[in-house]
This record gives sequence, structure tokens and C-alpha cells, in this order.
Amino acid sequence: MKTKIIVTGGCGYIGSHTVIELIENHFDVVIIDDLSNSTEKTLQRIQKITGVLPTFVNLDLKDENATHTIFETHKDALGVIHFAAHKAVGESVQKPLRYYKNNLYSLLNTLEAQSEHGITNFIFSSSATVYGTPDVLPITEKNETQRPFSPYGNTKKIAEEILDDYSKSNKEFSAISLRYFNPIGAHESGEIGELPNGIPNNLMPYITQTAAGIREKLLVFGNDYPTKDGTPIRDYIHVVDLAKAHVFALNRLLHKEQEKSLEFFNLGTGVGYSVLDVINSFEEVTNSKLNYEITGRREGDVAQLYAATDLAKEKLGWTAKKELNEMIISSWTWEQKYRNETN
Ligand code: WQD
Repeated sequence: MKTKIIVTGGCGYIGSHTVIELIENHFDVVIIDDLSNSTEKTLQRIQKITGVLPTFVNLDLKDENATHTIFETHKDALGVIHFAAHKAVGESVQKPLRYYKNNLYSLLNTLEAQSEHGITNFIFSSSATVYGTPDVLPITEKNETQRPFSPYGNTKKIAEEILDDYSKSNKEFSAISLRYFNPIGAHESGEIGELPNGIPNNLMPYITQTAAGIREKLLVFGNDYPTKDGTPIRDYIHVVDLAKAHVFALNRLLHKEQEKSLEFFNLGTGVGYSVLDVINSFEEVTNSKLNYEITGRREGDVAQLYAATDLAKEKLGWTAKKELNEMIISSWTWEQKYRNETN
């Protein structure tokens, strides 16, 4: 019998890549998603890649009663991977209540429903944003968390605090919070990838949409940071590497290997690239010229953020394998394939 896992937000960018890794590792996946920032077509695309159509439930996890009913139906699941959340940093500054309500109600309802039905393992989709502006680099999991700049980021920090309190109160409950650095890239098939709603906030989709002619030009937010070329440095990680880390984390929980009831792991490569590094690599691998212009800083950006990766390597047995060029090529392949299909 396959082990059943519930994946909330499984039609989204990181969720869908993780579902593929779970299926390829012989898990039985139930996706819960309200399709608020994703599409049901992703299910067919997952089937095309894996040969398996995952079970799908269209559900808004803010609906407490419906969430309980679904968890009752799937109470034979052994774990939950919780991706479902709103994630646009800028929008969260404009609409903080929407972000707090959505990201925290859905978390609370999921935790209550799973606990009520005896599902004790939980993986949380967190973010390096919980480190705020770090003093020491690379960032280890021992770094203090700080209040993130945006309400979106703060929902991740509050969620980790909720998990901390809850894991102390319920000895049966085991959780791992995975702090993502900057996920980019797409599945090598070009079938699934990042599909931002409207104008992208993040660098890589902005680059690929500019190259595809959907955006006129990329604005580079500041070149006066204390870095080698003045543009901010980030730890970009291939979404497929990131997805695989979830399977390692899940196995740690299922094999009861965790040392504490709540553990935190950074998911990054440990290598930092500047915005100009990414642009230059994009131009090189695609043999094209990107229309970009340096402009002023974006509020809330920090100069440098990259991960210490030792803990994930030691405890999960996972390291990121894919290089920046692979991340860029797969992002670009996905963008072109998607635009060709939808035009
Ligand atoms: C990277 C660099 C920008 C767009 C954010 C969230 C984080 C996580 C990932 C997820 C920065 C520069 C960007 C553009 C630019 N969230 N940039 N022009 O800010 O490191 O992290 O996304 O759900 O929580 O905070 O990522 O891709 O937005 O920016 O110059 O049009 O690219 O200034 O230096 P960030 P990003």
C-alpha cells in the first residue's frame, strides 16, 4: 500500500513540482487547492509527466467545516505538506488583512483538521524572509528570526511561531519548517513552471516575460548596494531541487528521525548571485540581449541573502545539485512552451 500524503497548494509552483517528486517516490498524493493562483490544467500536466493523475479537491482551507470533512475522508494520510498561501510581497503590503486571514486561517484549519483525524506529520513551506536583514552570512538556522518587512513575510514568521507553540503542546505532532531561499526554474519537461498572476514581482519571471516580449523592459532595483557590482545578492535554487528536499524531509518525519518535534531547515544552494549575474547568465545561455535599465532601490530589499546548507545536508541528506544555468534554461523553456501553447 502506498503512503498517502495531503499536499495543500499542490497546483501551485513549488507544490506541483513537489507532487511530481512524491509520485515518483511512490507516494499516493491528494492535492487540496482553491486554484486562486493556479490552474486545474496542472493536474493533467502532472499526469503527462508521471503517468499518474493525483486526487484533487477544490477547497478553500479558510472554510473550516469543509476542511474537516475532507480530512475525515483522507484520515488514512500519514502527513501533510502545506504550501497553500498567498505569496505576493507587494500585494501583501497593500492588503495585509487578506494575507493574514488567508495564510493564517488556512494554517490553523489544516492543523486542527489533521490533528482531529490523527495525522501527525506536517511540513511547512516557509521562507528565508523570516531572517529579516541578517548580520552574519551565510545564514544558519541558528540566526535569530526578525520581523520580516512585508505582511506576507510576517505570515511565515507567525506561522512558525504557531507551529512552535503547537508542537510543544501536542507530543504526537511532528513538524519541519523549510525555509526557501529564491526558487526559480521549472521542470525539465517544460510542462509545469512558475505562472505569476499579472505583473511578476520576482526577478526570474520578470526576465523571461521581458525576453518573451510580454514586458517592455526589466527594471533593476538599485546598483548602489555594498556588493561586488552594486546589485543585491540572492541564493537562487532550482525548484526541482527544492521539491526533492520535501521528500527527504517527509521521510525524516515518517521514519521518526527528527530530534525535536519542530525542526527548521534552510533550502538554498549556499551560493549567491547578484541581479546582474543572473541577467548576464540569461543573456549568455539564451544568446540574446535583455532590455533592462537600472533604477532606484525597491523598498524592503536587503543587500545579501544566502544560505548555510550544512544542516539540511547533515540531517536530511539533501543538497541542491542544479547550477544557475540549468535554472535559467528551464525557466526560459517553460516560458516559451507555455506562451506557444496559450497563444
Ligand atoms: C531578487 C532580486 C530585487 C524584480 C522574494 C520574497 C521572498 C520569496 C522569494 C516568495 C532583488 C531584484 C526583482 C525586478 C529586480 N517569496 N529584482 N527587478 O525579493 O529576494 O524574495 O521572493 O514567495 O519571501 O521576499 O526575490 O525575485 O523579488 O528579487 O531588480 O523586476 O531581484 O531587487 O534584488 P526576493 P525577487
